[in-house]
Amino acid sequence: MPHSESAPTPVGLHKLAFGGDYNPEQWPEEVWHEDVRLMREAGVTMVSVGIFSWALLEPEPGRYDFGWLDRLLDLLHVNGIRADLGTPTVAPPAWFYRAHPEALPLSRDGVRYAFGSRGAICHSSAPYRAAAANITEQLARRYASHPALAMWHVHNEYGVPISACYCDNCAVHFRHWLTGRHGSVDAVNEAWGTAFWGQRYNTLDEIDPPRTTPTVGNPAQQLDYARFADATLRENFTAERDILHRLAPGIPVTTNFMTALSQCESIDYWAWGREVDLVTNDHYLITDGRRTHVNLAMAADLTRSVAGGAPWLLLEHSTSGVNWQPRNPAKRPGEMARNSLSHVARGSEGAMFFQWRQSRRGAEKFHSAMVPHAGTDSRVWREVSALGADLGLLDGIRGTRTVADAAMLWDWQSWWAQSLEWRPSEDHDARERADTYYASLYDQHLTVDFAHPEADLSAYPLVVVPALYLATEETGRNLRRYVENGGTLVVSYFSGIVDADDAVHPGPYPGVLRDVLGLTVEEFSPLGEGETVRLTTPEGAPEGPDLTGDVWTDVVIPRGAETVWSYADGIPAGRPAVTRHQLGKGTAWYVSTRLSGPHLDTVLDRARADAGIAARTGLAHDVEVVRRAGESGTYLFAINHSGADTEVALDAPGTELLTGKPAADRLAVPAGAVRVVRLDG
Ligand code: GAL
Repeated sequence: MPHSESAPTPVGLHKLAFGGDYNPEQWPEEVWHEDVRLMREAGVTMVSVGIFSWALLEPEPGRYDFGWLDRLLDLLHVNGIRADLGTPTVAPPAWFYRAHPEALPLSRDGVRYAFGSRGAICHSSAPYRAAAANITEQLARRYASHPALAMWHVHNEYGVPISACYCDNCAVHFRHWLTGRHGSVDAVNEAWGTAFWGQRYNTLDEIDPPRTTPTVGNPAQQLDYARFADATLRENFTAERDILHRLAPGIPVTTNFMTALSQCESIDYWAWGREVDLVTNDHYLITDGRRTHVNLAMAADLTRSVAGGAPWLLLEHSTSGVNWQPRNPAKRPGEMARNSLSHVARGSEGAMFFQWRQSRRGAEKFHSAMVPHAGTDSRVWREVSALGADLGLLDGIRGTRTVADAAMLWDWQSWWAQSLEWRPSEDHDARERADTYYASLYDQHLTVDFAHPEADLSAYPLVVVPALYLATEETGRNLRRYVENGGTLVVSYFSGIVDADDAVHPGPYPGVLRDVLGLTVEEFSPLGEGETVRLTTPEGAPEGPDLTGDVWTDVVIPRGAETVWSYADGIPAGRPAVTRHQLGKGTAWYVSTRLSGPHLDTVLDRARADAGIAARTGLAHDVEVVRRAGESGTYLFAINHSGADTEVALDAPGTELLTGKPAADRLAVPAGAVRVVRLDG
């Protein structure tokens, strides 16, 4: 559904969403009244409730206590606050596990996880599926027409904290899934290459999940198990969704994604984006020295892309520090607003948090919230209230779409495949390549859409492919078509190598990308730890600075491509390192080593020029400028993540919405500030 022109929006919500996970069951009811008073004061428009409440709603099998939730939803309704109502199926009650201990998942090493946390679920378990369907049905029947109900929030972050179970029930389910994918045991033997190391199966019944093996297990089996685990979670989601659609027609159904590549690795969000009515996402800053605002922008762009470009909703982020990293810094003044409005600039229809009121007990009592332990006389509360007021001024952007300049190809399945053991170098990391290529485009002030490798790319002048190890023949044809029709493509090393079964494409590397890139790779030549190579421009090629690569080199044989930089040292010394191939009306670049920072910027800058995208030279570093456009107009977001005041040139006058002041040709954006201009015309 999100791929239609306008995705469904939470029912009855006529403003941007602002609020958070609300867990009032942790508090006496008198606190609820203070909560809603403060919500109104801060401009809260929607809260997520009931996500972990199964044990309270169904205290014994088949006995329900909805009284507290009735009172809560009524209270929200009379206060004009919309409810995103959870199905609590991520947290089955203790009684359920006493009756069905086999519904606790088994790790790859054969360890049975225990009750006492959350998310301990074997998603193949028939009793679990039945109990989840039942509580979902009870909630749908009771609240389908409750006036506070805006949206259903199924489960919580499928795939986190674990995505796969390796028990005997899953083995049976996996065999069934394999029949659907491959048809027969012979086809599985062929796809998995079981002739290798004598792994041949006579019947599907001999096949187990890829449990811990003495040395490396079959890679294709592991890849199929990752697909199976993802599909199993999706079966669970769609079962709940279909109950909700049937019993509560017209109420959108979502489940909160975690698209950031560092936060949930096991979900193929391309497939999930097609199943939800409205894409929603959770995002937390990973404060390990990375530029957190760049990582945030990337996650937001990826979320918008799995929503097919349609508006989506940030369902959780944090007001200040989290509590699950080794070190959990507080956010700096203004950082929360910059984070929130960056998500909004990149397509979110609001900004919501985990959680409303900081818990006194339990595992998350040191995680920040909208109402901190310090109460309302606190910086966090003042910033929360200010953000609520700011979002109230931006209603007009609802329904508009973020405008992108370029696309980056991303495929979770390719990532899973290249993350398996015994690859040419453990220093190669597909996620790192995606982060680094994204950061380079971010620093050139380009807004990036992500695209599936088989998607239509014709709308983009520039397409960047950071590391697409697994690429189908259709992907090869797609990229060739894209370039022939005038596109500019940039492909990094270790792309186009294997097919969907992790089998190397016949002939020299890079398999399905040989034609479009105009070259072959005779041999991979990864570098030693810490080793670097120097790249120079060869005689006759346009001059450029020397570049330095690390981690990887290829022995490249040009077959139509021109050499733009060549290796000055290393095993491939004198051979091409960075090439450019003119094909049809377009150009395809190949980067055969790991370039980062200014070295990668230099190459991408050339490709940007080939693509005919003008350089955004007037913008300062770490000043994010993004546009949303639609029927209500064009909105320019300028977010200054730097410590220096700056100015942004406007191509039309307009009104700055947060200050209400007119904006002419140059918009002042003080250090740390956000400005949103509605452009005239
Ligand atoms: C999310 C989760 C929330 C809360 C939050 C803390 O992943 O959905 O329930 O645990 O993390 O950062």
